[in-house]
Amino acid sequence: MATTLSVLISAEEIQKRVAELGAQIVRDYPEGPLHLVCILKGSFIFMADLVRAIDRPVKMDFISVSSYGKEKTSSGEVRLNKDLDMSIEGGNVLVIEDIVDTGVTLTYLMHVLSQRRPRTIRIAALLDKPSRRMRPVKVDYRGFEIADEFVVGYGLDYAEDYRQLKDICILGGVE
Ligand code: IMP
Repeated sequence: MATTLSVLISAEEIQKRVAELGAQIVRDYPEGPLHLVCILKGSFIFMADLVRAIDRPVKMDFISVSSYGKEKTSSGEVRLNKDLDMSIEGGNVLVIEDIVDTGVTLTYLMHVLSQRRPRTIRIAALLDKPSRRMRPVKVDYRGFEIADEFVVGYGLDYAEDYRQLKDICILGGVE
């Protein structure tokens, strides 16, 4: 079957929503630096846009975990591939995620990061598929809620392809 891409959320809609999230984050946090933790690789474009919508001092760090290989379904296991470079102890930490699906990845990461004693820790996720949830996750800043579709673009991949698409698209024709 041929692979198909159909636009679910356009680049314009994404930009508008990301600007709203940035403004909300600025309003919510007290004065002082914010520590952004980007979950690689899928969140790199979201992080790059969101950080430019947050008008205050921020530190940025990157962490890499994997729960998906080349498959479209979670293995249920999470592995830490790259840890943070900086300490988050005492900081106001905002974890930046591309999409919350089963919730396995964020449950693991929030457990690991909470043990490092940040002052506060919250989650910003561009996309949320609540119908797929296996573990409860509290998403503090949510871009869009979507149905149970496999999506690519704006950082999200399928087997490392499609990350550079400007729109978020439903990928069809792949089993
Ligand atoms: P979870 O642990 O099941 O919540 O999965 C989170 C991770 O799975 C995300 O950070 C993505 O890397 C990947 N993922 C889940 N759904 C999709 C999708 O529709 N497209 C691309 N990647 C996805």
